[in-house]
Amino acid sequence: MATRTLPRMSDPAIVFGMLDGMLPHLFRPEQRARLAACGRIADAGPLASWEDPRADALLRDAEILVGHWGCPTLTAEVLDRAPRLRLFAYAAGTVKWQVTDAVFDRGIVVTSAAAANAVPVAEYATAAILFANKGVFLVRERQRDPEAHVALDLSRVGNCGTRVGIVGASFVGRLVIDALRSTDVRVAVYDPYLAPAEAATLGVEKLDDLDELCASVRTLSIHAPDVPSTHGMIGAGQLAALPDGATVVNTARPALVDQDALTAELASGRLSAVLDVTDPEPLPAGHPLLALPNAFVTPHVAGAMGNELTRLAELAVVEVERFVAGDPPLHPVGAADLDRIA
Ligand SMILES: NC(=O)c1ccc[n+]([C@@H]2O[C@H](COP(=O)([O-])OP(=O)(O)OC[C@H]3O[C@@H](n4cnc5c(N)ncnc54)[C@H](O)[C@@H]3O)[C@@H](O)[C@H]2O)c1
Repeated sequence: MATRTLPRMSDPAIVFGMLDGMLPHLFRPEQRARLAACGRIADAGPLASWEDPRADALLRDAEILVGHWGCPTLTAEVLDRAPRLRLFAYAAGTVKWQVTDAVFDRGIVVTSAAAANAVPVAEYATAAILFANKGVFLVRERQRDPEAHVALDLSRVGNCGTRVGIVGASFVGRLVIDALRSTDVRVAVYDPYLAPAEAATLGVEKLDDLDELCASVRTLSIHAPDVPSTHGMIGAGQLAALPDGATVVNTARPALVDQDALTAELASGRLSAVLDVTDPEPLPAGHPLLALPNAFVTPHVAGAMGNELTRLAELAVVEVERFVAGDPPLHPVGAADLDRIA
């Protein structure tokens, strides 16, 4: 391996915080080698608990913490045990459960790989939108069970000029918008944080009224974060505003949708849904949503899995490389972002 030449922190101690056993799935050998070239990997075994007997010694030295799923929360007490910590590079999406105010108060730089996790979610959502518009899910159910009389208005199926609503021009929402640009669907967006000029650059119509958006689309795809202001944002009123035969795609979080109201609409046969997120997760066998022919339900699989995990690792490695080299992070997370981001 080439010797290090970066003008930077002097051989920083790098510690992993994540579920035991995740490292081999997360990092390709080449990515591990790049991380090792940034500093001193203090212990190859990740910490999944701050009560781990190794934690005191590892935290005392740690200058860089690379986190992933299962990384325990960085409270003020934990940070007291980690006085040298300067970077928390989170190799996964939502970082808000791992950090506390104390992290930001101490000036520790936090980065997230949400942008990388957004890629497979957007692929899933884009596929779901195009399949829903085409009537694929319902056609399949009709073929499987002709006696079920699954309603489908064939005169309205297809992706030619069909209007799609995106709730949230988030990392995921923007990737979905990008992907749909190569199709003939028309995209309208609801996002109070999206500036009109940005909407124009994205090539979408921005609507300031969520009910108006719902009333005008055949498929509504939800990509806003789970924050207090978004809870129940797709309620009975918004669902009622959707036209007959419309589909709700939710790859975001269950709290954004009134699941009881949606289930009632699905049971009536008026709407369809593609749901990667539900309450609870996963749904227990026999749950009504699993029995409905117009509900396509998956157990929270849209985000990175399998070989997609290395994409999360790549972003974390790049953030560590940049930090050690004195370059600004690509995807920093600040305390003020937490009520706006996933
Ligand atoms: N199913 C999965 O496996 C999976 C994986 C990753 C992310 N997710 C979920 O997907 C969603 C998007 O994730 P992300 O990382 O792209 O989010 P993000 O952090 O990029 O979202 C933040 C953006 O959402 C928009 N927003 C904020 N409040 C809004 C509101 N009230 N209405 C509309 N838009 C609003 C703003 O543009 C903001 O910048 C989140 O709910 C996240 O939890 C699910």
